[in-house]
Order: sequence, then C-alpha cells, then structure tokens
Amino acid sequence: MNAQTSSETQALNSVNKTAYRNYAAPQVSETFDRVREFYKLNHTHQTHEFVKAKKADYLSFSRQKMTPWAALDYLNTLVDDSDPDIALPQIDHLVQTAEAMRRDGQPDWMVLTGFVHDLGKVLCLFGEPQWAVVGDTFPTGCAYSPKIVYSEFFPLNPDSQQPELQTQHGVYAPHCGLNAVHMSWGHDEYLYHLLREHLPLEALYMIRYHSFYSWHRQGDYDHLCNAQDRAMLPWVQRFNPYDLYSKNPERPKLADVKPYYEDLMAKYLPATLQF
Ligand SMILES: [Fe+2]
Ligand SMILES: [Fe+2]
Repeated sequence: MNAQTSSETQALNSVNKTAYRNYAAPQVSETFDRVREFYKLNHTHQTHEFVKAKKADYLSFSRQKMTPWAALDYLNTLVDDSDPDIALPQIDHLVQTAEAMRRDGQPDWMVLTGFVHDLGKVLCLFGEPQWAVVGDTFPTGCAYSPKIVYSEFFPLNPDSQQPELQTQHGVYAPHCGLNAVHMSWGHDEYLYHLLREHLPLEALYMIRYHSFYSWHRQGDYDHLCNAQDRAMLPWVQRFNPYDLYSKNPERPKLADVKPYYEDLMAKYLPATLQF
C-alpha cells in the first residue's frame, strides 16, 4: 500500500487550518484554561514508571467483555478536556473523522480506523483521570522535546530530576524503534494493543501514534525510529488531517450511517472485545 504524496486531501482543503490546535487563542480563554490545566497534570504525572505500571495493569485485558458498539455508546458521554477544538461527544468526532475519509475514497480499513481511533478513551470508564487517557503523547525515559505542547510543565515531572532519563536517548538504544519506546500512557497505546490482531500495520500505526504530534508533525524523535517507523510515518500523517480538520460543531446523524459502520466492524473486528 502506498501513502498519498499529499496528506491534505480534497474534502479538507477548504478548511482554515490555522484555526485548529491554537492553544493560545485569547477569544476562547475558558477552553484555553481547561486545556492548559489538563497538560499541567499530564506532564507532571506521566513518568516512565507510571507508564510501565499502567501497561502491566491494562495490557492484561482482564476487565470486561464489551461489543465495540457498547464502548462507542459510552464514549457518547465523554467530552475530551485536552481538545481545544471540539466540545461535542466523542462519537460525533469519530463519525466526522470516518465520514471525511469515506468521502475522499480512502480504503475501508482506514475508514474503520477513523471510526474507532479514539475507542481507547473507554479507559475513563475504568476510572482513569483524563490526564492518563487523552492529550498529545510523548516518549518517557528520555529527554523531552521542547516542541511538545506545554513543555514548560515538564520540570514538574519527577523524571526531570533523574539525569539518566534526560539524555537524548535515555533508557533506549539509538534507532531502537518506537515499539520499544514507552510512550506516555493513554488511549492510543491501549487501543493499539486491543486491536493489534485485527487491523493492518498502517492502521495500527495510525491508532498508536495519532497523538504523537512532536513526531508526526514536528519531526522530532527520529533518533529513536527504525526503518519501519520511517516507512509508516506518511500513513500517520495521512490520518492526521481527518482527525484534526473534520471537527465541526454540527452534529452528524449516527443513525443515517450506522448500517455502513456495522458492516465495516463485522468485516474486521470480532463481535466482542476483551477490555
Ligand atoms: Fe485520539
Ligand atoms: Fe481523534
């Protein structure tokens, strides 16, 4: 499969892209305060040890069986505190993302990926605070890129006081590959592990790294990447405009498109998932 040469696709070309991910927009100070407070908590508490403990806990998948639809229903009750661009329920964001892909004629596995990419936010259902579920992700156990959003809060993270965790490579070998890197914990990593048996590698990269903006948008952390990561980067970048620029305050009608997505889920996913 080949990534398109340009990830900015037809349906999204007319969108004013500077209006998104603007963390300092003075006209939305209430949103700005919410997002800033969110990242203060996230950057303070996402330590290397915290990430390893959450993986040991959640990646045993010993909580409950749910259909993918039951998990989507739950997302209907959640508004993401880290997102400066949307205050709609998550299911609306998923439909908007996937429908924009469908309009552009993207492959069906990618449309499905758009439809489920934030399903890992069910971690909130299991009692996790939002700072341990959503927001941009970053490698732990090595130096923080100054390009990470709100990086000014990293001095509050206890890992900042550990010199061995603050070198360029930290606990990792050069070009070890992102699979070996412990990313800050959240819905991306969790959903990747939940669906890893069921979707193509390109889709799994989109899911696992869609919030790793300092890599896929800012171009940092190549020193941790291997050949596979570099080959998959264009796919993550192809996914991103749909996640970002399809956000729209108008609520889509799920009922109209539900049969299409029921078929798509049945094609790729098992009837129930063990969370
Ligand atoms: Fe996400
Ligand atoms: Fe998203």
